[in-house]
Amino acid sequence: MFSINFQTMDRLLTWYDQNRRDLPWRGTPNAYHTWISEIMLQQTRVEAVLGYYTRFLAALPDVAALAEADEGRLLKLWEGLGYYSRARNLQKAARLVMERCGGALPRDPETLLTLPGVGAYTAGAIASIAYGLAVPAVDGNVLRILARLEARQEDITTDGAKRSAAARLQPLLPPLRPGDANQALMDLGAMVCLPNGTPLCDRCPLAEECLAFQQGRTAELPVRTAKKPRRTEQRTVLILRWGERLALRRRESKRLLAGLWELPNSLGDLGALALELGIAQKTVLTTESLGDGKHIFTHLEWHMSAWRLRLSAPPPGEGLTWVTETELREHYALPSAFKPFRNKLFEEENLGRIHPEN
Ligand code: ADE
Repeated sequence: MFSINFQTMDRLLTWYDQNRRDLPWRGTPNAYHTWISEIMLQQTRVEAVLGYYTRFLAALPDVAALAEADEGRLLKLWEGLGYYSRARNLQKAARLVMERCGGALPRDPETLLTLPGVGAYTAGAIASIAYGLAVPAVDGNVLRILARLEARQEDITTDGAKRSAAARLQPLLPPLRPGDANQALMDLGAMVCLPNGTPLCDRCPLAEECLAFQQGRTAELPVRTAKKPRRTEQRTVLILRWGERLALRRRESKRLLAGLWELPNSLGDLGALALELGIAQKTVLTTESLGDGKHIFTHLEWHMSAWRLRLSAPPPGEGLTWVTETELREHYALPSAFKPFRNKLFEEENLGRIHPEN
């Protein structure tokens, strides 16, 4: 069967030398920098990562600093990037690297794979980019490019497809530039061989040898199984104010947004949520509807209706933490799910829309 070959890699590297993106983690090889960038880039666009990456490295410049960081500070640095278990796994892994390897990230992919949050793709990226080892780093970009080049019909979401792609690529990685070859594939996937049937084949250095291009099938390749539809939840969200302060709640330590801070919210209506929080009717000064917002997680959609309640006294109990605007900005990480209401948190009331209670 037709397969990519050494010439393919040569053309790809020539293209990369002329077109590569100038990205901050592409300076002098440094395994910590590669690791942090690759974890941030998992399921996240390069443009979204840039600011976070620079800030993170300025705050936590090496494995030792990451291992010792206060968890709240770590999550604040990750605030808005999503998939927060990535940040927690980074810290767990940094502690292991301090204990077992004196702070230097291991070189070989098998040892890298034992670290929390490091899978075959990330191990390959670190080994090849930072340490110059000829190890493939197969992500969605690489799978898409290979599926088109070779007009492969297999479902690229399977483990078998990933293993097979790695096995085909490995012998072709140029021994002197394996990291560049892997990053060339990533850049080609991000800049030219675009997903969703919109590749820019007229700019592609590999078009001449691409079977999908020759057969006019770039729109139908790669093949991937249809994803399950996302579940939808209708949630009520509360911006609860008591004087200058806002109520936050800590999420439970398992599952979605584990252990992060949130605006109090629930599946019930406003009455049910107020009851759950122990809010006494006589303490409610004003109630305002703030409209709707939506947030999409990988497997779930939150459709939220938000309300702002001003209280004369906090409800009894320890469930809520009352923070000022400065405290929220400096110390508490609020997930992006609440972004639709972010500018309403400390806003002064819109008098026209207030419904004074009684
Ligand atoms: N996506 C994931 N890793 C990347 C890298 N090192 N360069 C560009 N895009 C990437």
